Amino acid sequence: MAWLASPPPTANTDASIASDASAVPDASGALATPAPRTARHNGTHPASERPMIEVRNLRKEYVMGTERVIALDRINLDIARGQICCIYGESGSGKSTLLNQLAGMERPTRGGVRIGGIVVSRLDERELAEFRQKHIGFVFQSYNLLPGLNAVENVAMPLMFRGVPREEREARARAMLRRVGLGKSLNHYPSQMSGGQQQRVGIARAFVTRPQVVFADEPTGNLDSKTKVDIMDMIRDFARENGQTIVLVTHDDHMAAYADRIVTLLDGRIVHDTEQDR
Ligand SMILES: Nc1ncnc2c1ncn2[C@@H]1O[C@H](COP(=O)(O)OP(=O)(O)OP(=O)(O)O)[C@@H](O)[C@H]1O
Ligand SMILES: [Mg+2]
Repeated sequence: MAWLASPPPTANTDASIASDASAVPDASGALATPAPRTARHNGTHPASERPMIEVRNLRKEYVMGTERVIALDRINLDIARGQICCIYGESGSGKSTLLNQLAGMERPTRGGVRIGGIVVSRLDERELAEFRQKHIGFVFQSYNLLPGLNAVENVAMPLMFRGVPREEREARARAMLRRVGLGKSLNHYPSQMSGGQQQRVGIARAFVTRPQVVFADEPTGNLDSKTKVDIMDMIRDFARENGQTIVLVTHDDHMAAYADRIVTLLDGRIVHDTEQDR
């Protein structure tokens, strides 16, 4: 993939990650030239087999007045390209905090996150915005559609950031909306749609650019059980079609069952990590 071959910004070095160089090889070297197959045996990944997401020694603390909350601690995680990975755990276990660090929405207190070899935790605001627009999609529990835009305009928005001309982006948005079953609601505004319909728009918007990674925090949290299944089927089908990596937060067993892998958090630590047969 072309974007993975571009070198990271020079400021993009993380001491805590760099110190573990054998486990997480430097992005510029590892990605520009595919490593020989023998590289596997000395602990490095050939470029083609490198995990899509690499988390090393991640810690996140929040300070509230005099109190310090350790929301995440000693998180180490590799997520393979094309994997559907569920972050599972009870309320307050750190799921959303982890997703926010992975997606670069917040900066970790310690440790780092690489996506496609790029240390996202060290990108500045402008680089981060550009990185997200090019490579990442999001599905939110509360849909987060823009209320003043209709379904087509909401879905076309990420394509606008990528400089796709208006006619083409609206045609692609319409095609995506038909795929999620909203062919008859193309011009509807969010306030004119049900929760399930709004989430279908949210999914069309997240996948329309075919991003490498899609993050979803409780994407079915506000929906009835039949709609939950439809939404999860869609996420899984799109991901499989395009070989995309999905990181999905849920505390719902039925939703977790869709994943290739379930990583369970408790009090900010990983307590279980299980692969499921597909
Ligand atoms: N911005 C913040 N400031 C202070 N503490 C926070 C902040 N965000 C999260 N926390 C704390 O970090 C811990 C983990 O919160 P987090 O939101 O990640 O949990 P969660 O697993 O997503 O829970 P839920 O299932 O309820 O969404 C909690 O103790 C929470 O109170
Ligand atoms: Mg949460």
